Amino acid sequence: MRILGIESSCDETAAAVVEDGREIRSSVVASQLATHGKYGGVVPELASREHLRAIVPVVRTALQEAQTTIADLSAIAVTEGPGLVGSLLVGITYAKALCFARSLPLIGVNHIEGHIHAVLLDAGGQVEFPALALVVSGGHTHLYEVREGFAYRLLGKTRDDAAGEAYDKVAKLLGFPYPGGPIIDRLAPYGDPEAVKFTLAHMKGNALDFSFSGLKTAVLRWVEQHDMRGEIDARRLLQQPSLEDWLRFTPQPTLDLLASFQRTVIEELLRRLAASADQIGARSLLISGGVASNAGLRAAARNARLPGPVFFPSPALSTDNAAMIAAAAFPKLLRGQQDDFSLRAQANLALA
Ligand code: KG4
Ligand code: ZN
Repeated sequence: MRILGIESSCDETAAAVVEDGREIRSSVVASQLATHGKYGGVVPELASREHLRAIVPVVRTALQEAQTTIADLSAIAVTEGPGLVGSLLVGITYAKALCFARSLPLIGVNHIEGHIHAVLLDAGGQVEFPALALVVSGGHTHLYEVREGFAYRLLGKTRDDAAGEAYDKVAKLLGFPYPGGPIIDRLAPYGDPEAVKFTLAHMKGNALDFSFSGLKTAVLRWVEQHDMRGEIDARRLLQQPSLEDWLRFTPQPTLDLLASFQRTVIEELLRRLAASADQIGARSLLISGGVASNAGLRAAARNARLPGPVFFPSPALSTDNAAMIAAAAFPKLLRGQQDDFSLRAQANLALA
């Protein structure tokens, strides 16, 4: 069974064909980084327009690369939320039109569920349930219990910024372009992670919740106290700089600050990952979302004392893509679950 997945929740227009929920026949992602980079973040109105421009060629390319025609498809899956409403609408409207024209089942998928399935696409049969899923991206820092048959229970989430958002804001205040996460990831190994001691967040109420706004403010205070603002001129660096370029332009105290910031984020994530895994007796731990491509997080998770094996998606499946949306739709298709044309974009769609 081949499912065409379509993803347009944020700043990536993506389409993919996945066979039997596992085999990726194609996965095409058109990034809008060039459009948003200079604004220091995603501009929703520009994102919608870029999706409109990209959706037809991206879907066509995904079908061609998969050597698949619409007639070979069993269903079309599309992200229904959470995300930017104007962006989601482009994917949803396009998916509905295709389903209507070709009498195909339409399956709406929660973007967060997609990120969880990205891990299963790679790790597949090795994952045992109950599993614990940590979804860390620019929009989410959520911990879920995942039971057999894909039933989800929310265990904890961020009360303010998502981890990826904290990465992007810290990078921005130092002058780096958007998105800052991958840049900090590359530079952090060149700094001293013990140079700046940030305090960890202690949560009243649910101890499995996260908070990153205090850390962000502490970084801001450090930058101001040490007069580090404006040291990096992103405009000089926007043309795809190499690691050597970054290192040449970034003073050692900034590298130390980035390494210390990253060490703190990883500690916050892994502490709660371990505590929640113990709480539910998790037999597998899944880490997904854009921040899951962070090399420091991957290394720390592998070395941490955790109650079960840790699985990450490949870096290409960690950030937004449509293969994960098609994969998440497969068990729904098997169960006969489908949506009608009242499916709508939901900015704050919860998974559980
Ligand atoms: O999953 P994603 O592509 O989109 C959302 O659903 O948000 O995640 C994008 C986020 C951005 O905040 C980006 O800075 C962060 O993931 N990110 C990273 C890395 N790669 C992407 N953060 C830290 N290290 C990375 N290597
Ligand atoms: Zn995402």
